[in-house]
Amino acid sequence: MVEKMLLRSDNCAGAAPEILEAVMRANDGVLPSYGGDVLSVDLAEKFAGMFGREVAFALVGTGTGANALALSVVTPPEGAVLCHEKAHIRVSEQGAVEFFTGGAQLVGVPGANGKIDPNALENTLNTMPGSMGAARAPSCLSLTQLSEAGTAYSLEEMKALAAMARGHGLRVHVDGARIANALAGSGGSIGQMCAEICVDILSFGATKNGALTTDAVILFDDSLRDELAVRQKRSGHVFSKQRFLAAQWQAYLEGDLWLKLAGQANDAAQALVRDLAGIDALTIEHPVDGNIVFMKLPPGMLSSVNNEEIPFHVWGPDIIRLVAAYNTPNEELAGAVTGLRQLCAASLS
Ligand SMILES: Cc1ncc(COP(=O)(O)O)c(C=O)c1O
Repeated sequence: MVEKMLLRSDNCAGAAPEILEAVMRANDGVLPSYGGDVLSVDLAEKFAGMFGREVAFALVGTGTGANALALSVVTPPEGAVLCHEKAHIRVSEQGAVEFFTGGAQLVGVPGANGKIDPNALENTLNTMPGSMGAARAPSCLSLTQLSEAGTAYSLEEMKALAAMARGHGLRVHVDGARIANALAGSGGSIGQMCAEICVDILSFGATKNGALTTDAVILFDDSLRDELAVRQKRSGHVFSKQRFLAAQWQAYLEGDLWLKLAGQANDAAQALVRDLAGIDALTIEHPVDGNIVFMKLPPGMLSSVNNEEIPFHVWGPDIIRLVAAYNTPNEELAGAVTGLRQLCAASLS
């Protein structure tokens, strides 16, 4: 029953044992509260090592919290955030960014396979008003890595989009709820990525990739440190027992566990792709650059599928999404493939 849920989302997976053990260790003793604990202090050093410079950070409880807090630091209430038209911040967070920014607008930019099309971005930037007009001016570009379609931008693609935005005076945010999966797939380094793109602020995901419950906001613009600290507190994101979040991060980063876990999830997704490729009636919808597989089913087949039997998310007409986690068992992958093969055969007979 528990395993049956797994392919529906990496959010259904439990936490990695290394992370649970670190939380248990952090339970020993009495430590300073509100981030004054030794684990949080050491984490600052760890982040500095990863990013090649000191950064301000806020440990938060969810990806939505990370995005809304991060974007509120770099976007004024009268501004606009440009993002992919299907970006999670725009279609799946119930206006959290608008709420946290006090009213900023989310402007969707089209692009195939979940990635912003450079020409469409240029067009949007050229047609939106400048900051002195009465209408809203774009303030920030938000890129999602992995994208909502499970694809990854290359470093060059991200650099080009970010440079275009910067040329129009925008700041740059990355929604990295699944950045580990993108990096494990490409072999790139997070420090290099953030430096080369000149990211202002990053939502760094961990929960979907084996953490118990923590994501982080990483700030690269030192002039906004106070802004982040105040907004973190006022939005209820300062944890009194931050040591338990810091412990998760320590274990997550130690020995690159985060990249190892993401690599395992990506490998499971590739195994799915290989096996599903043998079913003629199915089409893989988008390139699989991480741990997410979208598939197009034969027309009408969805009505005969019970997603209690094959765990998936219905994503659109005849489209389903399967997501592998770091610990998806091979039997579950095989079960999904067998189930889909049988359904395809039945629907075509
Ligand atoms: C790309 C992306 N960003 C942010 C989030 C939000 O994360 P959470 O559900 O932890 O709020 C999700 C959740 O699925 C996501 O897919």
